[in-house]
Amino acid sequence: MVAYDDIAEWYDQWVGTSPMHNDPYFSEVETLMGDVTGQRICDLACGQGRVSRYLADLGAQVVGIDLSAKLLEIASRHEMELPMGIEYLLADAQNLDVEEVGTFNGVICFMALMDIPDLTPTMNSVARILHPDGWFVFSILHPSFHTSQSGELVLPEGVVRTIRSYFVEGHWRSDTRTGPPGKVGAYHRMLLTYVNALTDAGLIVERMSEPCTIDSFTDTPSLSGLKRPVWAEVPAVLVVRCRKDTPKQEA
Ligand SMILES: C[S@@+](CC[C@H](N)C(=O)[O-])C[C@H]1O[C@@H](n2cnc3c(N)ncnc32)[C@H](O)[C@@H]1O
Repeated sequence: MVAYDDIAEWYDQWVGTSPMHNDPYFSEVETLMGDVTGQRICDLACGQGRVSRYLADLGAQVVGIDLSAKLLEIASRHEMELPMGIEYLLADAQNLDVEEVGTFNGVICFMALMDIPDLTPTMNSVARILHPDGWFVFSILHPSFHTSQSGELVLPEGVVRTIRSYFVEGHWRSDTRTGPPGKVGAYHRMLLTYVNALTDAGLIVERMSEPCTIDSFTDTPSLSGLKRPVWAEVPAVLVVRCRKDTPKQEA
């Protein structure tokens, strides 16, 4: 059973129709990607295709990949209404077949790695489909500040993010959150698990961003939970850029 199939229509409504540049977290992603014009890019775990469409509009050649047939149906509907040359493929990020998807200058994975159960094969897939020297940019709920037992305390001196169970990795689901962690849950991993899995796959971290963007939100429903004052104290989201490390041939 694919979790996002059950909530595909809800997810489509929830992300809304506001362009990606209105999402301050995507702005950070865009900065770390750099100019994408003319590049062949894989939008990994593309969902209903909002990032794919944005990148295609910037002049990239985009292949969107997702495990949810229902979300891909919505993405394909958009592509039929306004053709942008985006190719959508139903596949599991944990075992992408390089023959099937070709090779890419870059892979983007926007707010989705925490939805994928197994990180190591996913990182290996990314490395496999990238050109030598290709880039990988992703954003995730910041693993230091979202765990199975994280919350907020309002104290006289201000709001405090509370974190327990940081060392407990695995699936969790929130009873109170209105976004995907409350609907389908998420996988928590320690920061070191991310960095070690990237390094083991030959993806070298070049740059990171921990944006404090509290003042720049619009009224997009998917961003309302990230508008709270606590996110001016600690970062809600982590953005990372990696470069595929291809061993140089001996002369
Ligand atoms: C929070 S959504 C993000 C979607 C999209 N990147 C966006 O920003 O709207 C997480 C996505 O991860 C996808 N996903 C989960 N597990 C996956 C897997 N193993 N392979 C590919 N996609 C997967 C879900 O179907 C869903 O579309």
